[in-house]
Amino acid sequence: MATALYEPRFGYYARETRQVGRSGDFFTSVSVGPLFGELLARRFLSEWEKIGSPARWRIIECGAHDGTLARDILSAMERLNSPAFAAVEYAIPEPLPLLREAQQKTLKSFSGKVRFISTVSELFSIPLPGIAFGNELLDALPFHVIEWHNNDWYECKVTADSSREFIWENDHPISDTKLLETISRIERDFQEGYRTEVRTNFREFLEPLTRCLTKGLLLWLDYGFARAEYYHPDRKSGTLRTFSKHRAAENPLTAPGEIDITAHVDFTALAEAAMEINCVPTYFISQGSWLTEQARDWLLSLEGNPDFIALRQFQTLTHPAHLGGCFHVIELAWNQSDAVFSEVCQHRLGKSLAC
Ligand SMILES: C[S@@+](CC[C@H](N)C(=O)[O-])C[C@H]1O[C@@H](n2cnc3c(N)ncnc32)[C@H](O)[C@@H]1O
Repeated sequence: MATALYEPRFGYYARETRQVGRSGDFFTSVSVGPLFGELLARRFLSEWEKIGSPARWRIIECGAHDGTLARDILSAMERLNSPAFAAVEYAIPEPLPLLREAQQKTLKSFSGKVRFISTVSELFSIPLPGIAFGNELLDALPFHVIEWHNNDWYECKVTADSSREFIWENDHPISDTKLLETISRIERDFQEGYRTEVRTNFREFLEPLTRCLTKGLLLWLDYGFARAEYYHPDRKSGTLRTFSKHRAAENPLTAPGEIDITAHVDFTALAEAAMEINCVPTYFISQGSWLTEQARDWLLSLEGNPDFIALRQFQTLTHPAHLGGCFHVIELAWNQSDAVFSEVCQHRLGKSLAC
């Protein structure tokens, strides 16, 4: 998956930048319109106030794609709170040259605000308070595929047959310790041939981000569930999907490098990885509920002066039948002494998570 999506010459995200939107392969919340960025900006501004309105702070956007969401967020921040806007550094880590070029073009008018970097390690020397976040980033992190046979898990690996076509081999005993450890947290009562996915790279992804922030928030929006729902016995063929020209399919071996490959996010596994590095999960909720909470002041400001275009965007982003239901938001407090892992949050993420 890492090669198919990110190989510098042939990877799906390396070859071109038109994956998201009508002329691409899939829509995201960013495609709905600028309201999504404005509501994120409102949340970030409230966090800035909560951490004491620092004179310098940082937002790190992971998976910024062509920079559209960054532009929507920065435009809203500039309009809503000029001191916070003046104080912010907006960092975009992007190893792929074509995407970086697209980001620089989209964000031309904010060039003094945005720091374009190849990897987050470029921020380690001067950590600042702030936020690291990503929309539909976690689902694009590579994962293992596993299958249940004869009362045990086996890993499915990709190989080539004699005519050099890619094929699955579904019977590899699992030896990778991280994978074994993660799998040991999944219930073991599935029907023969049950197939699913497991990510073991959340910690490795989150830890460098915490090194760029003295304190603040890590925030992720994506499709996915808590563990109990993810590994539900009825979800027999997992959540691996490919996208091409707005059509979903399930075989990632058909056109590697030309189609998107994704799987839902196990938010319980993400929370566990975050807790291992001393983050505190403070919020886990559907995107619809989370955005509605961020939208309170905006909705009030529309009284007597409705903006029907933005209200339609709000409906698409929050309605359970659109993006509001299957998308979730998780907030992870970093180095904040008053952060509480509430009972509600524990309950939603699953009982296995202890404080
Ligand atoms: C599904 S797209 C989402 C794009 C955009 N955030 C949106 O919501 O429209 C996933 C993006 O994550 C990027 N990505 C994947 N892994 C990454 C990583 N480890 N660091 C930074 N970006 C990553 C991909 O290059 C791609 O641009």
